Amino acid sequence: MPQIIDGKAISAAIKEELKEKVEELKARDVHICLAVIQVGNDPASAVYVGNKKKACAYIGIESLAYELPEETTQEELLRLIGELNANQKVNGILVQLPLPKHIDENDVIRAIDPKKDVDGFHPQSVGALCIGQEGFVSCTPAGIIQLLKRSGIEIAGKECVVIGRSNIVGKPMALLLLRENGTVTVTHSRTKDLKEVTKRADILIVAIGKPKMITKEYVKEGAVVIDVGIHRNENNKLCGDVDYDDVAPICSAITPVPGGVGPMTIAMLMHNCVEAGNVR
Ligand code: GUN
Repeated sequence: MPQIIDGKAISAAIKEELKEKVEELKARDVHICLAVIQVGNDPASAVYVGNKKKACAYIGIESLAYELPEETTQEELLRLIGELNANQKVNGILVQLPLPKHIDENDVIRAIDPKKDVDGFHPQSVGALCIGQEGFVSCTPAGIIQLLKRSGIEIAGKECVVIGRSNIVGKPMALLLLRENGTVTVTHSRTKDLKEVTKRADILIVAIGKPKMITKEYVKEGAVVIDVGIHRNENNKLCGDVDYDDVAPICSAITPVPGGVGPMTIAMLMHNCVEAGNVR
């Protein structure tokens, strides 16, 4: 049977390391503060924001919550971001996505000071990643690199195939694997003969958003499979983009859903907040 990559345990270990670091910083009178903005009351967003606030409290990071009504104008939101950019006490700013349709997400992301862009979504952060300079990295792909490294999985020289090319996961994932000296292929909905490409992967990262789409026909024997998807199946049970029961027996390591990639996103957000506070 494969190695089950335990995202819950790895994220807990990272949070413990960060908690210690935050205590050390506090002893030097450095206090970390994250501003979390939610516009409207999307129930899924409310859960994510709640989890982020809980993680902050656990680690010792102050969180400022801004719960704005659905009707908030783009101008009002940009004004708040401007104030938080100028506020010396605030180290990180996170605007929960998606935003209501009347607000342009790109304008909002661009308004955040890159020094406080703990989500790593600002074009300057993405550009820095692309050319190998310092900057915040999108939390989910950064978490996947931690899962691999902390599970003893070597990336250098490996054939890495990413399925999905989103700005939040697929593209930064490809750049991070490249930074770790992987040989990287990015596939997407227009890729011809997807199975033929994914079967080359030593490390297969799946972020397509389709429940259980990846069966063993897509996977090379002995591959490492990382599943970014999270869905509810017909029985209201959580499942990923990978058909776990079909794929697990042939791979060398695999992330479960839940308990794989999911817990890493918040751990890396906390990591970015601590970095944001540490540099000042
Ligand atoms: N919505 C879903 N995932 C995320 C995330 O990682 N960051 C933000 N800001 N919004 C999200």
